Amino acid sequence: MGSRNKLISFGIMGCGAIGCGIAKSFKKELKNVCRLSAIYDINPQASQDLAKKNNLDQKIIKKNISGLIKSCDIVVEAVNASNTRQILKKIIKEKKNIIVMSVGQILNAKDLFALARRNRCKIIIPSGAIAGIDAIKAANVSGIDKITLTTRKPITGFKDNPYIKSKKINLATIKDETTIFKGSVDEAIKHFPQNINVAATLALACGNKSKLTVNISTSPKFKRNSHEVEITGKFGRIKTRTDNQISPDNPKTSYLAILSGIQAIKNYCGEILVGT
Ligand SMILES: NC(=O)c1ccc[n+]([C@@H]2O[C@H](COP(=O)([O-])OP(=O)(O)OC[C@H]3O[C@@H](n4cnc5c(N)ncnc54)[C@H](O)[C@@H]3O)[C@@H](O)[C@H]2O)c1
Repeated sequence: MGSRNKLISFGIMGCGAIGCGIAKSFKKELKNVCRLSAIYDINPQASQDLAKKNNLDQKIIKKNISGLIKSCDIVVEAVNASNTRQILKKIIKEKKNIIVMSVGQILNAKDLFALARRNRCKIIIPSGAIAGIDAIKAANVSGIDKITLTTRKPITGFKDNPYIKSKKINLATIKDETTIFKGSVDEAIKHFPQNINVAATLALACGNKSKLTVNISTSPKFKRNSHEVEITGKFGRIKTRTDNQISPDNPKTSYLAILSGIQAIKNYCGEILVGT
């Protein structure tokens, strides 16, 4: 057996913006760290395109979820599906660890975490498109009093949003920064599903979602997405702000979210263990 085959093998479930971004890194940043042994997408064309772009062997393209699970040591989930939770359950039932990108889908998934504990599986959540998750987890050891997430997005990000329509907010008349939502993480997820991952990652990191308040604001002056997080507790106060650049390969995804997935893989392989 060649030494490459001894490397930890990863399977990518979902060959969209994030799946493709992460797959690319197996020939760059992750080269000699681990290997990509399987990919699967419900849309066969998406898997074919990913394989072609990255010059991958056809045999790593799997025809179904079971084929992917069998062909790797750990799964990177990057699917955009209504049944993501069931997919994750299937992977954990097979006792495989998972890196989960669709964090919003597991915010209230106590059953999934319980199953993972029983099966001794790890559910790994990358920090995503924000900064400070490491410090929040550390602060949480002695308890967090309050977290506030303020997400700022360009006006175009809210076009056709049903909540905006129901509140009769006229986006065309907004001239300066305007808060269009303030509420709990569950309400934020319900009304602004595009923001679910950042809010859910924070809620899971602080371990008590009732401590988290989500503000969403917009302005014609905002040209890109940014997330400001403020945390107070016994440790003191933290304030972080992340101004996200879109992925060079896909305008609908924050570049940092893809990079955080790659970093989670490096961590898993024992490459970088700072701040975990
Ligand atoms: N954690 C973060 O910070 C973060 C940031 C951005 C996106 N995300 C999440 O990551 C996930 C992927 O995002 P994306 O931008 O790559 O989405 P995308 O739409 O570009 O790609 C998703 C892919 O999943 C495939 N798919 C759908 N249902 C499937 C199924 N049942 N089985 C296998 N494949 C299936 C689609 O065909 C598509 O190719 C989404 O849930 C998104 O919300 C997380």
